Amino acid sequence: MRRKLVAGNWKMHGLRAHMAEIEAIAAAAAAHPQVDVLLCVPATLIALAAEVADNLPIGAQDVHENDLGAHTGCVSAPMLLEAGAKVVIVGHSERRADQHETSHDAWAKAAAARRHGLGVILCCGETEAEHDAGRAERIVQSQIEKSLPDGAAPDWLTIAYEPRWAIGTGKTPTLEEIASMHAILRAKLRGMIGAAANDMRILYGGSVTGSNAASILALEDVDGALVGGASLTAAKFVPIIEAAA
Ligand code: G3P
Repeated sequence: MRRKLVAGNWKMHGLRAHMAEIEAIAAAAAAHPQVDVLLCVPATLIALAAEVADNLPIGAQDVHENDLGAHTGCVSAPMLLEAGAKVVIVGHSERRADQHETSHDAWAKAAAARRHGLGVILCCGETEAEHDAGRAERIVQSQIEKSLPDGAAPDWLTIAYEPRWAIGTGKTPTLEEIASMHAILRAKLRGMIGAAANDMRILYGGSVTGSNAASILALEDVDGALVGGASLTAAKFVPIIEAAA
């Protein structure tokens, strides 16, 4: 039985002034021990967030594939660990779009995170054009083929399916579409890593809210949610944690 994971992704939001939200989310997580909760914040906030949210794992949103070097503006896995991060998101569609990151980049980043004992949430998802052209399944499977790190195992790696056209738009696929894509991802993972795929969590992300979370989280191969906008405040995020409980 896979425990549900509700992960928040604050993206480029979050200042010291928002510590009270993190404390409130941590309190809600403690009140629902049957659900795994984590919060990925900007790198500038990791150390502070890790301090105030003792029971809530704090994650990062990116990592460089190298441990050190002349990479202006980048942050390495050892640095994230030292700051208190436990997990890092790689391959997020916003980085694929804005930073032109590829599935190979995601593979290398995941390997760097693994090398230092960081958990990884590996993202995949199709664009609206790919969805409308009926190519979503092929695109997502190809992304997994190219980005799944060596030694992929459920104890450190989680997959997140995030249709790009559902991110930040208020639009979500139908429940049937989500169920179908998650089943395809499960089968793809089985083909790549065997029975371990049965224990690997596959999260859904893309306009998850307190209103739709229960129905999405009830789907067989949906093991949790990766939440953007609705994770920014406890008032919006806690109902999603409760829906997973
Ligand atoms: O990583 C989660 C994010 O991409 C989903 O964003 O705002 O649609 O929940 P949002």
